[in-house]
Amino acid sequence: MRIQLNYDLSAQNTFRMKVSCACWVEYETVKELEGLNFERLPKPLLHIGEGSNLLFTQDFPGTVLHSNIEYIKYVDMGFEDVPVMVGAGVVWDYFVSETCRHGLWGAENLSLIPGEVGAAAVQNIGAYGVEIKDILSGVVAFDLQERKRVKFSREECRYGYRDSFFKQPENKGRYVITSVLLRLSRKPNPRLDYKGVREALGIPGQAGNDGNTVMADPKSVMAYPEPVMADLIGHLTPQQVREAVIRIRRQKLPDPEELGSAGSFFKNPVVSRAEFARISPDGSAPHYDLPDGMVKVPAAWMIDQCGLKGATEGGAAVYDKQPLVLVNASGSATPQDVLALEQRIINGVQERFGVTLHPEVDHI
Ligand code: EPU
Repeated sequence: MRIQLNYDLSAQNTFRMKVSCACWVEYETVKELEGLNFERLPKPLLHIGEGSNLLFTQDFPGTVLHSNIEYIKYVDMGFEDVPVMVGAGVVWDYFVSETCRHGLWGAENLSLIPGEVGAAAVQNIGAYGVEIKDILSGVVAFDLQERKRVKFSREECRYGYRDSFFKQPENKGRYVITSVLLRLSRKPNPRLDYKGVREALGIPGQAGNDGNTVMADPKSVMAYPEPVMADLIGHLTPQQVREAVIRIRRQKLPDPEELGSAGSFFKNPVVSRAEFARISPDGSAPHYDLPDGMVKVPAAWMIDQCGLKGATEGGAAVYDKQPLVLVNASGSATPQDVLALEQRIINGVQERFGVTLHPEVDHI
């Protein structure tokens, strides 16, 4: 366990904002977490993972907690389904690399997403047609209010698009996830409805959509006779899908090691059919039809249409290869630079399309 006062958070947020907290606590086990003298810690409390989805807008006056609970336990390797218990402090992509190495299906589309396992389960991370909720059976958490361990089933986690029970205002900050139960499979189950993934793997066929959270109807991606497709897809391994996803992400997204960012800065807005017709009268804008009749429109496209690609405010910039991402271009961007750029984008998109973008990144 490590407790430090006046701690510099520059290395604890991938945006690389130079901010500090009054107190920093890093623990190795659930017992250490439970044994903390919470009364004596400066308030408020904030639990972070790798700090890859947050923007510190100023110095934090309270205590920042971080978990080093790191284990991957294959509960049962013997059957088709492979339940795996993972400590909240495990780096998500390390977990994905390990499971792909073992030939297990389930997490491969979520390769290279920054962050740690606990935060991934809070945020319901998603990419290329898969969200963590699709492979999650439950989580174990520590309730800071009642000071006791609690288990949540997948249903109780109430997952939505980048949303969960733990993100609701009444629950925010109350539960610390300590481990996550995921269910992987030995049975080949490639999810290839995202066009870029199919292309990167050289799998022919028309992709169902460019959406990122909802599975396309598998029939819509069948361009070859079923046995031919089955043969092509049947030879894939999770490792190959992982490598394809990594290639795509490296082309589009900045490496947080080289350029500070917090991934997608905004959520993709969901609008009604009528609103979409107003946004794109000829229907040519990229979009994804959701099962409930609503339409998801890529915020990246809207920002691009507003001519804001590459726009800067102080040291912060809109990433030119993927305008949904804001970056610390100078390396010394301040929270104010990022906030000014965020506001400019929100205003620009509002004026042009009448749509309000909402940040995906947590503002602290
Ligand atoms: N686009 C443009 N101009 C550009 C770039 C993109 O118009 O310069 C349009 C294209 O039409 C493209 C569309 O935007 O088809 C969507 O772009 P992309 O497929 O890259 O995905 P996204 O919707 O921008 C989402 C997630 C990403 C995830 C990808 C892939 C959110 C907020 N973001 O981005 O997640 O990796 O899909 O599934 O849902 C993250 O959350 O941090 C993240 C990176």
